[in-house]
Amino acid sequence: MKNLKVKLPTVMVVFGARGDLSRKKLYPAFFDLYQRGILPGKFTLLGVSRSDISEKDYKKLIKESILKNSKQKIDKKKLDSFLKFAKYQSGLFEDLKTYKNVADISFLQDKKWKVCSNKLFYLAVPPKNYKTILVNLQKSGLTIPCSDKKGWTRVLIEKPFGSDYKTAKELDKLLGELFLEKQIFRIDHYLAKETIQNILTFRFVNSIFQPIWSGKYIEKIEIKLLEKIDIANRGEFYDGIGALRDVGQNHILQILAAVAMENPIQMNAKSIRENRAKLLSFLKIPTKKEIENFKKGQYEGYKNQKGVHKKSKTETYFKITAFLKNERWKNVPFVLESGKAMPESKTEVKVYFKEKKPCFCIGEHQSHSHQNVLTFKIQPDEGILLDFFVKKPGLEMDYLKKQMSFKYERDILEKTLPDAYEKILFDCMVGDQTLFASTREILASWRFITKILDAWSDKEPQVYKKGELPK
Ligand code: BG6
Repeated sequence: MKNLKVKLPTVMVVFGARGDLSRKKLYPAFFDLYQRGILPGKFTLLGVSRSDISEKDYKKLIKESILKNSKQKIDKKKLDSFLKFAKYQSGLFEDLKTYKNVADISFLQDKKWKVCSNKLFYLAVPPKNYKTILVNLQKSGLTIPCSDKKGWTRVLIEKPFGSDYKTAKELDKLLGELFLEKQIFRIDHYLAKETIQNILTFRFVNSIFQPIWSGKYIEKIEIKLLEKIDIANRGEFYDGIGALRDVGQNHILQILAAVAMENPIQMNAKSIRENRAKLLSFLKIPTKKEIENFKKGQYEGYKNQKGVHKKSKTETYFKITAFLKNERWKNVPFVLESGKAMPESKTEVKVYFKEKKPCFCIGEHQSHSHQNVLTFKIQPDEGILLDFFVKKPGLEMDYLKKQMSFKYERDILEKTLPDAYEKILFDCMVGDQTLFASTREILASWRFITKILDAWSDKEPQVYKKGELPK
C-alpha cells in the first residue's frame, strides 16, 4: 500500500467500541493504516458503546488491544500519537440522545478542522442491534452529508447479514429505504483477504489455466475452512447461529465464487460484483435426499459452554456438497467443509483435475494415482501448489509426484501484507465497493443455505471429539 493515502478528513464512528471485533481486528487495523501513513491527518475514531467509561480508559483499551492483537511491528511512539485520534461516547443504541451526542462531537470536529468531513459508521455489534442503529442514524440526520459536494456518509455492516433468506431480504430492504447503495458496505472479511484476491489474479492472468477451468477437465473442488479453536467465549453469539450461517453463507461461498466465476473482463466493482452474484445464483438448491447425506456435527462439550443452550442442536461442523447449474460446472461437486475444534487450522481450496486413463506408464504402475491437484492455501502457509508428475529416472516406465509451488515470503507476510480489516477500512474510505457483498450475492447465497438450515432445524448433530474430524 505504498504511496496510498486517504486525503479527506474523516470521522469514523464505531458502534460496539468495546466489543470483541473492535478490540481484535479494528483497532489494530486502524493503527496499522496509521503506521503506514495511510490514514488522513484529520481523522477521528469515535467509539460508541453502552459502557460508561472515560475517554482515558477508552484510549487505554485501544492501546492494549493493539499491543495484544497487532501482527505488525509496533512503533511505540506512533502508538501513543495514534491515540490522539480517539474519542468516546457512551450511550444506549435505542436512545436518540446517543446519536445527538455523536452528531455534536463530529460537528465540533468539523468546526475545528473548518471542513465538512466524511462520516463512516461501523456497526461492530451483534446483528440484533442493526435495525435500531440504522433507523436511529437516519432519524438523527447523521447520515445526511453536511454539504452537497463534500463529506459523504457511509455505513459498514458486519456479517451475518440476516439469519436466513427472509431476514436478509428484510434487512436489505430497510437499508435500501435508509441509504443509497453507494453508501452501503456489506462486509465479508474473506473477500478482503490477500490470498483470496490472489485466486482471481492466478486464474485470470495465467492464460494456461483458462481452457482447462471447467467440468471437462476438473473432477471436483474442495473448499475447507477448519479451525482448531472452539467457540471460546462466543457462546451467546454462536449458539442458534452455527457454522453454516457463521462461515458457510458468506466466507465459504465467497471463496467458491472466486474459484468458479467467469472472468469479469473489466476490473471494476460493478463487473466483479455482478460476476460473483451471477455465479452464486447458479447454486443448485439441494434436494431433501441430497441434504440427508450432508454432515452436521457438534463437538463434545459444546453444550456445556457459557451462553449455549443445554439442548442446543447448533452445528459447529458441516460438510456439504454444492453443484452449479451452468455449463462450465455441470456435474462438478464442490465439497464445502468447515468446523470448530478441528485437528488443525487450515483454509484451503483443492482443485482435482481428471486423471488421464490409462496413464502413460506400464504394468503395476497403471493402478497408481496420478491426479494433478492445484491447491490454494489461503491460510496458514499461504501459497499456491500444483502437483504434477515426471518420469522416475531409470529403466522402468514409472512416474514420480513433484510439486510446483509459490509461497509468500515470511517477510512479505509479516511486513507488507495488509490484514483483511485494513483493506476493508481503506477501501471503504476511498469508496471502492469491489470487495463488499452486493444484495444479489447475499440473497443468492442465503437461498442455497436456507434450504439446508430449514431441513436441519430439528436434526440432531453428530457429536465429534474435539481435535478430531467427525467420522
Ligand atoms: C468470522 C467468524 O467471520 O470468521 C468466526 O465469525 C471465524 O467464527 C472467523 O473464526 C474466521 O476468520 P479468520 O480471518 O480468522 O480466518
